[in-house]
Amino acid sequence: MTGTIAILPGDGVGPEVTAAAVTVLRAVIAREGRSLDWRFYDFGGAAIDAQGDPFPDATRAACLEADAVLLGAIGGPQWDQAPKRPEAGLLALRSAMGVFANLRPVTLWPGGEAMSPLRDTIARGIDMLIVRELTGGLYFGEKVEGTSTASDLCTYTRDEVERVAHKAFQAARLRRGRVTSVDKANVIATSRLWRAVVSDIHARDYSDVVLEHVLVDAMAMKLIQQPSAFDVILTENLFGDILSDEASVLTGSIGLAPSASLGEGHRGLYEPIHGSAPDIAGTGKANPIGAILSAAMMLQFSFGAASAAAAIEQAVRDVLAAGRGTPDIGGSDTTDSLALAVADALK
Ligand code: NAD
Ligand code: IPM
Ligand code: MN
Repeated sequence: MTGTIAILPGDGVGPEVTAAAVTVLRAVIAREGRSLDWRFYDFGGAAIDAQGDPFPDATRAACLEADAVLLGAIGGPQWDQAPKRPEAGLLALRSAMGVFANLRPVTLWPGGEAMSPLRDTIARGIDMLIVRELTGGLYFGEKVEGTSTASDLCTYTRDEVERVAHKAFQAARLRRGRVTSVDKANVIATSRLWRAVVSDIHARDYSDVVLEHVLVDAMAMKLIQQPSAFDVILTENLFGDILSDEASVLTGSIGLAPSASLGEGHRGLYEPIHGSAPDIAGTGKANPIGAILSAAMMLQFSFGAASAAAAIEQAVRDVLAAGRGTPDIGGSDTTDSLALAVADALK
């Protein structure tokens, strides 16, 4: 486990949860006796304030040179009118890195039945992986922004659907062998292409995996009704954004959910799925587990350190099972005290 990490703390709770992830990274590196180098770079609103650009050239160069990028979160009301918003910087980063597959695991952790807004009999057994297409669709289509008319073009090509579908089917083979592809094929043309391509890839290469297609409105319902029925959920960019926030909270809090964004190689972008949470920034209430588990995904996917990643996950499980937690999951820890508890559990 050697290599370089570009760390982008960002805005709001971003620097707080990033510091927590670094605390845990230091502990796991000490335990494994290896070395990783990391440096911090301006990104998002913080970069607008410091350099007038949410994604400065020096940050771009560092991210493209590094083996992995670890990001906190970006955005906030003070930059909502900026000529180039922090969110535009994040989309430019994902696109520049070519990370088209965003893996968002959603798992019920120990004690999760009590944290979930669902009845415990329904929450029990939640263990899904949302594979969200990340560099296409409405987010990246041509935009017209007038004061009386606006439009966002949604485009997908066969290649864009194929490459993310391969990631989902391959992930399913290492899990429970089921893929639920989510679209709106009854109305939207890109969804009809999506469904056709996913079916083709399945028939050609993955007939050992069980595939079902579900319309996105019904999926929003089924996630609440029977969340433990799902294994891998494959969907386009906007639907994946929305469904992953919904799914995450079924396990207690969006603050628990990590993500890995991958392209063709080992380089990846790792970030919790939550935003900058301006309502709790600076209070020590931010849950760092999503950021900590994102660092674990980084060790696994970009540095091939599966045992170090598993050790972090086990430490998180132990700490949550002991009843520790930030206020969003009913605990009285701060961001820092919870991170230190995870680091201690690694010793
Ligand atoms: P948000 O995810 O920041 O917050 C939604 C709710 O979840 C808030 O009540 C917040 O307090 C809570 N929450 C979020 N993270 C938490 C954590 N770690 N621990 C405990 N509670 C947590 O979404 P929002 O309020 O809609 O967006 C705020 C800003 O963040 C916006 O500018 C948005 O564009 C940006 N955003 C950035 C990212 C990212 O950087 N990847 C993701 C989503 C939103
Ligand atoms: C996320 C966020 C981003 C997205 C925004 C901030 C651009 O909501 O990472 O989920 O929509 O992808
Ligand atoms: Mn989102």
